[in-house]
Amino acid sequence: MRLILLGPPGAGKGTQARILTDKYGIPHIAAGDLFRDNIKNGTPLGKKVESILKAGTLVPDEITINMIADRLDQPDCKNGFILDGFPRNVAQAEALEKMLKAKGIKLDAVVQMAVKDAELIERISGRFTCGACGEGYHDKFKKPHDPHACDKCGAKDDFVRRPDDNAATVKTRLDTYHTQTAPILPFYESRGILKTVNGMAPMNEVTNQILAALEPKKSPDRHPAPKKGG
Ligand code: AP5
Ligand code: MG
Repeated sequence: MRLILLGPPGAGKGTQARILTDKYGIPHIAAGDLFRDNIKNGTPLGKKVESILKAGTLVPDEITINMIADRLDQPDCKNGFILDGFPRNVAQAEALEKMLKAKGIKLDAVVQMAVKDAELIERISGRFTCGACGEGYHDKFKKPHDPHACDKCGAKDDFVRRPDDNAATVKTRLDTYHTQTAPILPFYESRGILKTVNGMAPMNEVTNQILAALEPKKSPDRHPAPKKGG
């Protein structure tokens, strides 16, 4: 399965990708997570992009495309991958198409997660993650069972909030999505692989909608069963 999850900030791309990665046994490649890892580790790439993530604008295409190309070259991507947050503009979508063509592979689907802007702000402002394993939580929609420990890995008092999850940066991220990322929807529609799910539904319903959208279409039965009694 080679899949892109596409949607505005807070649409639930990371939430659903973590579920799908377990189900399909393929890696979850999140451009934002790769940048944040580089920032955390103080790499030259991290130093270059830190202020850009803080501002909520896009990292230059050359840096982003090279980073994703390197990641897709890793052996764990051989049987598939889930891309989250890449591509984010038409130039990146074209670069990805070229990259995959050179490898002789094709995308199976691009899933658009549609959510209204007002809901996104509530989601982003309540979000936090486990600093140890990256599991995502929300103050209202997904609380850990024990407020001091991660449900998934058990890490104690290690929850973190993203520095770009503040009102001003969220507004910039939303504007960036509408002006630069949304124009790639027609790009994938024209290739016949765009599927849209209602990202406003509860998390497990969104998962079910994505799984249904990914099911191969049944071809029409060319030999219908004969009618009874005739
Ligand atoms: P990135 O990390 O990709 O951030 P984003 O696109 O703004 O998306 P988020 O991670 O905020 O949201 P999400 O859709 O993953 O939502 P989540 O599942 O957490 O990018 C960060 C920055 O990196 C960018 O601003 C840019 O600077 C740079 N960058 C990244 N990619 C780039 C690229 N390709 N080119 C250039 N620059 C790039 O869910 C949000 C919350 O809602 C959670 O708390 C969750 O629990 C809750 N939630 C999820 N689903 C539901 C539901 N169905 N109902 C209720 N609550 C829900
Ligand atoms: Mg995310």
